[in-house]
Amino acid sequence: MAAEGAGGRGRAMRYPPLSALVVSAIAAFSAVIVLAVVHSAYDDAMSRTRTLLGHNLEPTPWHPFPHDKGRPPARAALRCAPSIACLPPLSSSSSSPQPQGNKKKKQKQCPAYFAAIHRDLAPWRGQGRGVTRALLDEARRRASMRVTITGGGRRLHVDLYYACVQSRALFTVWSLLQLMRRYPGRVPDVDLMFDCMDRPAINRTEHGDGALPPPPLFRYCTTRDHFDIPFPDWSFWGWPETNIEPWNHEFKNIRAGARATRWADRVPTAYWKGNPDVASPLREALLGCNDTALWRAEIMRQNWDDEARSGYQHSRLSAQCTHRYKIYAEGFAWSVSLKYILSCGSMALLIEPRYQDFFSRGLEPRVNYWPVAALGMCESIRDAVDWGNANPDEAERVGRRGQRLVQDLRMHAVYDYMLHLLTEYARLLIDQDHGLSPPPHAQEACEASLLCLADDKQRRFLHASKADPAPGDPCVLPPP
Ligand SMILES: *[C@@H]1O[C@H](CO)[C@@H](O)[C@H](O)[C@H]1NC(C)=O
Ligand SMILES: *[C@@H]1O[C@H](CO)[C@@H](O)[C@H](O)[C@H]1NC(C)=O
Repeated sequence: MAAEGAGGRGRAMRYPPLSALVVSAIAAFSAVIVLAVVHSAYDDAMSRTRTLLGHNLEPTPWHPFPHDKGRPPARAALRCAPSIACLPPLSSSSSSPQPQGNKKKKQKQCPAYFAAIHRDLAPWRGQGRGVTRALLDEARRRASMRVTITGGGRRLHVDLYYACVQSRALFTVWSLLQLMRRYPGRVPDVDLMFDCMDRPAINRTEHGDGALPPPPLFRYCTTRDHFDIPFPDWSFWGWPETNIEPWNHEFKNIRAGARATRWADRVPTAYWKGNPDVASPLREALLGCNDTALWRAEIMRQNWDDEARSGYQHSRLSAQCTHRYKIYAEGFAWSVSLKYILSCGSMALLIEPRYQDFFSRGLEPRVNYWPVAALGMCESIRDAVDWGNANPDEAERVGRRGQRLVQDLRMHAVYDYMLHLLTEYARLLIDQDHGLSPPPHAQEACEASLLCLADDKQRRFLHASKADPAPGDPCVLPPP
């Protein structure tokens, strides 16, 4: 009976009714369709996912660079998606924490060069002017990204247009997130266009006729002939590609290195070490001054590829304070090396800088640096060194005052500059009838999403450059 029963059921199982077959076929077919749809949606999402590392983005057309455009690795794209990584703020209505600083405490004045904020923003100030939607749209044509900060300075969105070289975009957005961490609830809502490539773009001759204000564009440097608005560059938070640590840390190390060699014991010639192969005629010409007997200068080549391979043993900035004179030569534009050179306390010889970053407006010739002419450069270096060696006390003082300039520029001052700049800029934004809101395609950026995207080395630098909430008010901005 058992066998018969089994046989009967077995027959039924081998030949299921037609309806069951149809149902399973439909089920299987639908599953395939659903999978295909999911896969294509996923594929589509992946191929559209732009990240701060430049995935799926072209390099800026105005400054192309070798860039491996590629879709983000699947896991990273999913795990690091802002919708997952950026939890909404715990309570957006929480009152802004009051600075714990004693109100009676005398408020510190900002360094004098903070006054440049007023000059940088002057084109948009005044009756009938301001930063309009139309001007922002015009600036967009030269921007690599648009950044909006909303929610009382608590949320940040980026709309990514182009990839930036190396990890600049990642570290620049990180710098804004750290400003929000340092001054919770005090960063104004802003909408700004940023270009993270080197050279200024808003030409004064072309945009300075006064009829319309120029397009407002933030970047790392400007010149007297441009309207670009300078903003602290990524290297203050660290530059993983060259192993340069976050600024406070790097400054402390260089100063310690500088203390190891007294002025009197330093080599009485001028020293430069860097990368001459950056399409800079100035640096190429500098190679021709490499003669200590004739020009009192030692010019050394830094090869970053070799350095990376050998573990950065020969590029330690703290071991480069051995000479009484240190040369600063611009590269393709401004150079982040200025602050490291000044940190040594040697007399800095600056070869006619054309570009200005936010703090180099604090430089004063013969006060905290020594000017060197670009024309007749070698002779000019020799004359500066000969003057210094004939007037060692004065030369040492120039070096000290240069070091003082960057000693006063540690991260608290960098954040204060950013806060004042954004606060003044926010006052100029008009046309924002319904309050600021991020554009539809912008993605939120938060610490977790950035840390998730970063590779191990980048992540170490990001962690090391985290800001602490400010213990008091920012310094007082000098009046216009
Ligand atoms: C600005 O534009 C003018 C006119 O197009 C040009 O002659 C000048 O060289 C430009 N200046 C800079 C600094 O690029
Ligand atoms: C400059 O001269 C020194 C000493 O002669 C040499 O070691 C160095 O390689 C030279 N620098 C460059 C960039 O050629």
